[in-house]
Amino acid sequence: MGDDGIAVLAFVEHPDDGWPWAVLDAGGGASQLVDRLLEASYADVTVVDISEASLARVRDRLPENSPVRLIRADLLDWEPTRTFDVWHDRAVFHFLVDPAARLRCTTLVARSLRPGGALVLGSFEPQGPTTCSGLPTARYDPAGLNRVWTDGFVLEHAEQEDHATPWGTTQQFTWALFRRRQSGQPFATSLRSLRLEQVTQAGARTVAGRC
Ligand SMILES: C[S@@+](CC[C@H](N)C(=O)[O-])C[C@H]1O[C@@H](n2cnc3c(N)ncnc32)[C@H](O)[C@@H]1O
Repeated sequence: MGDDGIAVLAFVEHPDDGWPWAVLDAGGGASQLVDRLLEASYADVTVVDISEASLARVRDRLPENSPVRLIRADLLDWEPTRTFDVWHDRAVFHFLVDPAARLRCTTLVARSLRPGGALVLGSFEPQGPTTCSGLPTARYDPAGLNRVWTDGFVLEHAEQEDHATPWGTTQQFTWALFRRRQSGQPFATSLRSLRLEQVTQAGARTVAGRC
């Protein structure tokens, strides 16, 4: 099984939870995560991206009756009217170098994830690129991410990935799995089978854009 298949397996083993799980890919861009989720029968998948061009590329390759919702929005202004079980962000959060923007993002995710839900976050690590696509990046080790995602989230797992880009460079990522906690409630256990290292492997394959 290729890397994309591995990405799917990271999400599918949740027999106690029933279908469908609602997955939000924030700043999905050209990533093929949405394709892999569909192949695994996920029926509740949403991609939000500020770029219509990115969404158009996804729209073009989806089947006509695809259940995927493609939403063009700036995540920092977006006001979802529902909640999600998984919030996935690869290479988007690290563009938020302004503390006020970071706060808007963490507030949005806190509001949008159900208690016990998972935030799967892939951001440049401290040795990672200082700019990407001409934009400055914030870079994080697990402790750094934990400081930002402290309010209502608990860091469950983190690891580093040396991502070999198609153009021959290496990008260092920190991957983190946070759970959304609700005050006074214990953790939900329904995401116990989420295998972050597998998400990470898949992430390495589909990083879009050149830094
Ligand atoms: C480096 S790409 C990563 C794409 C994808 N997540 C991946 O890993 O391949 C960043 C994506 O985030 C989108 N993006 C950046 N800022 C955004 C924002 N404020 N709101 C929504 N999308 C945003 C861009 O349009 C782009 O598609």
